[in-house]
Amino acid sequence: MTLFDDTATHLPSSHFIHGAARDEASIKKDRKAADENFVEFWAMQAKELEWRTPWTTDCHFEAPRAKWFEDGRLNVTDSCLKRHALGTNANKRAILWEGEPGDTRTLTYLELYQEVQKAALGLRKLGVEAGDRVAIYMPLVPEAIIAMQACAFLGATHSVVFGGFSSDSLRDRINDAECKVLITADGGYRKGRVIPLASIAHEATRDNCCPSLENVVVLKRIGSVDESNLFKDGGFFQTMSWAELIVEDAHDFEATSLEAEHPLFILYTSGTTGKPKGVVHSTGGYLTQAAYTFRTVFDHRKDDIFWCSADVGWVTGHSYLAYGPLANGSTIFMYEGAPMTPDAGRFWSMIEKYHISVFYTAPTAIRAFMKHGPEVPSNYDLSSLRLLGSVGEPINPEAWEWYHEHIGSGRCPIVDTWWQTETGAIMVSPLPSETPTKPGSATREIPGIKLEILREDGSPAGENESGYLVSKQPWPSMMRTVWGDDERFQKTYWSKFKGAYFTGDSARRDSDGYIWIGGRVDDVVNVSGHRLGTMEIESSLLNHPAVVESAVVSRPDDLSGEAIVAFVTLQGSIPLDKKLSDEVKAQVTKDIGAFARPADVRFVEALPKTRSGKIMRRLLRQLAREGVINGDITSLEDKSIVTKLLAER
Ligand code: WT7
Repeated sequence: MTLFDDTATHLPSSHFIHGAARDEASIKKDRKAADENFVEFWAMQAKELEWRTPWTTDCHFEAPRAKWFEDGRLNVTDSCLKRHALGTNANKRAILWEGEPGDTRTLTYLELYQEVQKAALGLRKLGVEAGDRVAIYMPLVPEAIIAMQACAFLGATHSVVFGGFSSDSLRDRINDAECKVLITADGGYRKGRVIPLASIAHEATRDNCCPSLENVVVLKRIGSVDESNLFKDGGFFQTMSWAELIVEDAHDFEATSLEAEHPLFILYTSGTTGKPKGVVHSTGGYLTQAAYTFRTVFDHRKDDIFWCSADVGWVTGHSYLAYGPLANGSTIFMYEGAPMTPDAGRFWSMIEKYHISVFYTAPTAIRAFMKHGPEVPSNYDLSSLRLLGSVGEPINPEAWEWYHEHIGSGRCPIVDTWWQTETGAIMVSPLPSETPTKPGSATREIPGIKLEILREDGSPAGENESGYLVSKQPWPSMMRTVWGDDERFQKTYWSKFKGAYFTGDSARRDSDGYIWIGGRVDDVVNVSGHRLGTMEIESSLLNHPAVVESAVVSRPDDLSGEAIVAFVTLQGSIPLDKKLSDEVKAQVTKDIGAFARPADVRFVEALPKTRSGKIMRRLLRQLAREGVINGDITSLEDKSIVTKLLAER
């Protein structure tokens, strides 16, 4: 890609337009309405949901505080389940699921609603009330969505912890939110192996490490662990199986009516400092935007089978598995396992088998498929596909073109969607019948969203000038606070520019108004679409007894987008060998999870520091990326370090 390649545009194919749910004119109407009054536009979208009590004030915004539909009351399960289950969609399939070993399950809207009622009543019997927090640490099975919806049914705020996180990470999250209940499973399948979730959860909660916990519920997925005994050693909380939780006779059980601003969920994400932050999302505003973006960006058609390959442990899984599609009465497909298991054709075989029509995945997965060659997908019938999506990191134009040609046969538009855990739902994306696409650009804001690109001094950046991506305008699904640390919320997002939410990303806008994301400008790295704070990894490295100091940077990687390079100094005269390097990497797997494991560990005599003792990561970044250090080193305290670092490579 040349830097300003603004010209390569792809128009939506006539094949797509012919079968699209929404045409260009109707999208233009949305844009016009939103441009005239974005608050009224969003209020119009909110009316598509079920409300118990209508609201009178659409939006109240005084940065950093935003409230949407504040005096309205609702329960998201009315929109996601009840209206479908008790209406004409009762027998429509809500969830199609396949486990990694090939086992399958289908749930209609009526069945899903009933399962949620039963689980919700079970949780109620454990004493779970509106306002309580429930941690969910599960594989990608239908019960993960049932558990989330059951919490929402009661007004209990859920905190889903991705099943790839370590016991330490799980413990920190349970304790930060003071969760009353933990819902987990005996295990899940991934890459042909069993991830022993219950054992990890047991490790996280043993010895009264989680004093707020009153109950642990364990789903039997694998069947190899005696779940009822696993947690019984300490007696600090009650344990039961999922089967014991379920209350069969729950059909009269009604969902709780909640304020629109009630916290629907907390989701932890990495930031600049070591401790992950609990991003808090609302009920009414969140669902409004999750539902609207699902409908509009993915051009929702009643007969679609929508597959979002993200785990529910990430925000993508929240908004485009658990909430957005269900609010629209769509049929979702869920797959538990890894893309290359048992072989590189697994994804394509499922698209063929389930007639998936809309497929949403991450660039890192697309790049992995590219490595196996276009012959693999060409062996499958992918003609059910009509639209493709990308999310999580910038998609390089080569991957975009490959996806377009070999998966979409040139006929499926690609929606490259930019958003964040904090934004709750899609903010920037093409709308498939309307927006010509340029590979590598997420194009423009969706209707009702307006972003700005600012210079360091807060003035607007010019055309094609890179700057900080911000929003001065509120949007319904914006995060409301950091759980338990509102000061951090204000400082992290609202202090760089007065009255503006700072995304942490840099971007430029081209002459057509298209946004090109430049990546993070803070200490956040993106490995395979997983967001990690370099500080988190550094503090984990320090937990290894041999490590004295550490500095973590990233370098570009063909497959994972970015890869982690850790520079460490060691205690005294510890011999350097491969074993030590593996041990240091294993420390990160233990503390955070395997997805955070550094690709390289480099043992160095000393880290480059300024006179005031700050590590100059800029130099290490250059060394990791280009193999040289030729930047400005005037503030470096000991200049001989540069020569040593270069020699130690
Ligand atoms: C960061 C947010 C969006 C849900 C999953 C990730 C990067 C995300 C794109 C995209 C370029 C992207 C940004 C953003 N990012 N989507 N389409 N193009 N960059 O959510 O873990 O909160 O990460 O991911 O840097 O700030 P997240």
